Amino acid sequence: MKPVTGTVDAAVRERFPLLTRQVNGRPLVYLDSAATSQKPSAVIEAEAAFYRTSNANVHRGLHTLGDEATRLYEGCRDTTARWLGVESAQVTIQRSATAALNLVARGWEHHLVPGDAVLVTEMEHHANFVPWQMLAKRRGIELRVLPVTDGGELDLARLDEFLDDRVKVVAVTHVSNVLGTVNPVAEITSRARSLGALTVVDAAQSVGHRPLAFAELEADLMVFSAHKCYGPMGLGFLVGRAETLANLEPVEGGGEMIEWVRLEETTWADVPHRFEAGTPNVAAAAAFPAAMEFLEEIGLDAVRAHEVDLTGYALEKLRAVDGLVIYGPDDPTRRGGLVSFHDPQVHPHDMSTILDQLGIAIRAGHHCAQPLHRRLGVVATSRASFGVHTTTGEIDALIDGLLESRKVFAL
Ligand SMILES: Cc1ncc(COP(=O)(O)O)c(C=O)c1O
Repeated sequence: MKPVTGTVDAAVRERFPLLTRQVNGRPLVYLDSAATSQKPSAVIEAEAAFYRTSNANVHRGLHTLGDEATRLYEGCRDTTARWLGVESAQVTIQRSATAALNLVARGWEHHLVPGDAVLVTEMEHHANFVPWQMLAKRRGIELRVLPVTDGGELDLARLDEFLDDRVKVVAVTHVSNVLGTVNPVAEITSRARSLGALTVVDAAQSVGHRPLAFAELEADLMVFSAHKCYGPMGLGFLVGRAETLANLEPVEGGGEMIEWVRLEETTWADVPHRFEAGTPNVAAAAAFPAAMEFLEEIGLDAVRAHEVDLTGYALEKLRAVDGLVIYGPDDPTRRGGLVSFHDPQVHPHDMSTILDQLGIAIRAGHHCAQPLHRRLGVVATSRASFGVHTTTGEIDALIDGLLESRKVFAL
């Protein structure tokens, strides 16, 4: 195995216990970090430590364990806030990016009336598409979809056609989970905000992959999931401007989200707790700061540089494979750490089956972006995505495996 390229030290790999395992008798080559990242030991241990030493419910117990659990849970909020350059009250703890987007679509709908429009893009993950489509159907409003160019970028030359003062919400991804495209979101959000629209950025593929402050996005709200940036599953975030969160209705009622409850009426707890009904995933919240620490130790500039290095390397190697169709921008500095491609000779599912036999995990399918795949004119693509631990040697193994799959399946 060649060392990790460029700016990330090879020792980083040793921090991931799962990467030492074998799959089908071969060393695992994990190229599916965009679906979920592997977890460093510190994160695994922090989650286990919560159950071992501090397990109790939050905000309830007038006892030591309850206080510890609450401190860990609120500590996650504080660390996340510091990481993104916002106040703690601007961070709401959710189950996932998907849950956070559904909360926004439900919680904002009282601001919308028939005749209004919501603008999304053709490259959205279903998590940032379906909730808006559901909202549009519920409220009788129009769903507009900004197209993607043949080069795999948002067609910003046509933005004025889609963005006018009827648009009351603009929801856009920062980094496409299929094309890898890094969108100039601040350009879109600042134009949308000047027209009075709510702006929502899906940062699921960008938080933890580059230095990122909430303010840079010039958005009202952003969402992301901990599990895509080396944190635990079952934890996502909605981050927003204080005035926007104050105008969002809670969607789930129950314990913890109330100020007081009377037979006739209930009043809400302050933001952010009004959006956190019921028992949260405290263990995951207790573990996420370890992921942020891990990334900070490497340095988010180095994480990003490594991602660009590997993506550039992968693009070069994939381009050398005759007949392969590669999606998204040519320039790795304009992409996140992933590459989707299509081999007209081998169905993506067949390719991933052969690769799996070689111990190589990639993603095959529509990657929860069916409208985008329709635009690309294919039902499925193969996607290789990279983490801080990925090596150029693993990309070489992918190319060898891909050629192997041609030997089995090509006509
Ligand atoms: C761009 C993007 N948005 C949203 C999501 C949804 O994240 P989760 O499944 O963690 O809610 C994903 C997951 O793949 C994604 O890639």
